[in-house]
Amino acid sequence: MKKKTVLDIMEMYESGKKITMLTAYDYVMASILDEAETDMLLVGDTMGMVVYGQKTTLQVTLEDSIRHTQAVARGAKSAMVIGDLPFGTFQVSREEAIKNSVKLMQLGLAEAIKLEGGSERISAIEGILNAGIPVMGHLGLTPQSFHKFGGFKVQGRSEETAKKLVEEARALEEAGIFSLVLEAIPWEVAKEITESISIPTIGIGAGPYCSGQVLVTYDMLGYFDFKAKFVKRYANLKDQILSAIQEYNKEVRNKSFPDLSYSYEMPK
Ligand code: KIV
Repeated sequence: MKKKTVLDIMEMYESGKKITMLTAYDYVMASILDEAETDMLLVGDTMGMVVYGQKTTLQVTLEDSIRHTQAVARGAKSAMVIGDLPFGTFQVSREEAIKNSVKLMQLGLAEAIKLEGGSERISAIEGILNAGIPVMGHLGLTPQSFHKFGGFKVQGRSEETAKKLVEEARALEEAGIFSLVLEAIPWEVAKEITESISIPTIGIGAGPYCSGQVLVTYDMLGYFDFKAKFVKRYANLKDQILSAIQEYNKEVRNKSFPDLSYSYEMPK
């Protein structure tokens, strides 16, 4: 199976084909998403919340990101794998941003990196691109700014902040990013951004007019109780898992599992 690259993503964008992206944090899930022909797998720092039970994404480390990106890369035969630069790994200096992106590619086996933020990140983005690493941008509700925003809040709702988002998107495009995640912004703003730039926008809670969509896989599979307004549930895994585990516990306790059909015998 042919591995997808930035060229394939650009080709899809230019031919008007919607791009799909989902988050993955482990090998088994990555293999399933890949088999289902998902275009890109994002090893997002949402792993802090859904895998490690942290309250925000701020505690995720570069080591976490490298380890999970490796696992996903092993399962992604066709999907392009995007590693996410965690909080603190690209804000301090351009040099650190380049060094940490190189690690995510070299040790984590990522095929591109994503980082949050706007024009304040241009210097880091240019440095990373100079190292030969494709960069995906991320604007709107950037969860690493949780404390600055005062929580997970929809962004770009005033005329002024919406205008700023459009300007930031243009600046990131000019810096050379190959695609841009737009998170939790009004659909009108996402539409305007999508129409103002010539690279694909990948929306999450940003309406239907983006060039592609991304969701946190655990959310869309119903693995989690919490559901944001923009999440469509395509399955209810938590309910299915819960009833399977309750059944197992019951059968072990009432001694109906395992019966002899699940047991080895001595050779005759
Ligand atoms: O970390 C993540 O999973 C993300 C997506 C929500 C876009 O950034």
